[in-house]
Amino acid sequence: MASRALLALLMVVLCSSLASALRSRASDPNMEVKFDFTPFLIQYKSGRVQRLMGTTVVAPSVDARTGVASKDVVVDQSTGLAVRLYRPRHRGGRLPVLIYFHGGAFVVESAFDPVYHDYLNALAAKAGVIAVSVNYRLAPEHPLPAAYNDSWTVLKWVVADMHRGADSWLAKRGDMSRLFVAGDSAGGNIAHNLAMRAGQHGGARIHGVALLDPYFLGTYVDPAAQKAWGFICAGRYGMEHPYVNPMALPAAAWRRLGSSRVLMTVSDLDRLGPWQRAYVDALRGSGWPGQAQLYVTPGEGHCYFLNNLESPKAAMHMATLAAFINRTT
Ligand SMILES: *[C@@H]1O[C@H](CO)[C@@H](O)[C@H](O)[C@H]1NC(C)=O
Repeated sequence: MASRALLALLMVVLCSSLASALRSRASDPNMEVKFDFTPFLIQYKSGRVQRLMGTTVVAPSVDARTGVASKDVVVDQSTGLAVRLYRPRHRGGRLPVLIYFHGGAFVVESAFDPVYHDYLNALAAKAGVIAVSVNYRLAPEHPLPAAYNDSWTVLKWVVADMHRGADSWLAKRGDMSRLFVAGDSAGGNIAHNLAMRAGQHGGARIHGVALLDPYFLGTYVDPAAQKAWGFICAGRYGMEHPYVNPMALPAAAWRRLGSSRVLMTVSDLDRLGPWQRAYVDALRGSGWPGQAQLYVTPGEGHCYFLNNLESPKAAMHMATLAAFINRTT
C-alpha cells in the first residue's frame, strides 16, 4: 500500500515537472516555431533560423579528377556577396563564360556546397567554360529581391572584370560574346529574372539562358507553396507576380528577354513541370525572335542531375547543357 502511494506521488511530481518543462520550452522564443519550412529550414519566434540542409562548405581547389581550378572572390564588400570561379585546364583560345545560380528554394545551399562544387567542376571541364558560381544572399534573413539584386551586381562585375586584366581569369580566358546564365530550381528562377532585367535595362548581352528545373509557380498552387513564396519574399510579391509566375508577363515583355537562346530542362516527376512547360509555350508564343529548347528526362524528380554525376541520365543532362553552350549556330 505504502509503496503504491509513493508511486502515485512520484507520478504527480514527474508529470508536473514535465508540464512545466514543456511550458517553459513553449514560451522560449528560441524554441517556438514561427515558420516551418521543412525540409529546408525552421524559423523560430526569436528570429533564429535553423538550416536543415546545404550548410556544408568545401574550399576552392584544383580538382583532382578534372584539373579544374577554383577560387573565391568577394564581389561586393558591403553585402559580402562572393562568387566561386572555375577555370578548366588550358586548351588554347578563349572560353565561354557561364554565370551559375545554385538552387535551394531561395533559403538554403551555397556556392561552396560540395554538391555544387562537384557539379561546377564537372560542368566547367565538360563544357569548357569559365564558370562564375554565385553565392547570393538567402531568405529569410535577406528576402527577395536581395538575390535578384545580387545577380545583377554579379553580371555587372563580370562585365567589368573582363577589363581588369592582371590576375583576372575572365580577362585572360573568357569570351564575353559567349556569355551564358544558368541555374537550377530557385537558381533557374534567378537566371530568368536576370535575363529579363538585362533585356530591359541593358547591362550585357546574354548569349543563352539555361533553366534547369526552375522554380516557377502559377496563381493556382497549394497553400503550402503560397506560404513558402510569401516567406521567401517577405510578402512583397503575390503569386501573380512575374518574378514567380512569368506566365503573367505580356508578350511584349517576353520579347525583351535579353537572350536569343533558352534551354529549359524538365524532370518528368517534378511537380513544377507544368509551369516549366508553360514557360516554354509562353516564350515561343510571344513572338520572341529566339530559339527555345525543351529537354525532358523521364522517370526522374526535381534536380536529380546534381547527384550521381556519372549516372547515364545525369551525364546526358550535362552533355545537353554543354552542347547548348558550345553550339556554333
Ligand atoms: C535592391 O535594389 C533596389 C534597387 O536598386 C533597392 O532599392 C533595394 O533596396 C535593394 N534591396 C536589397 C535587399 O538589396
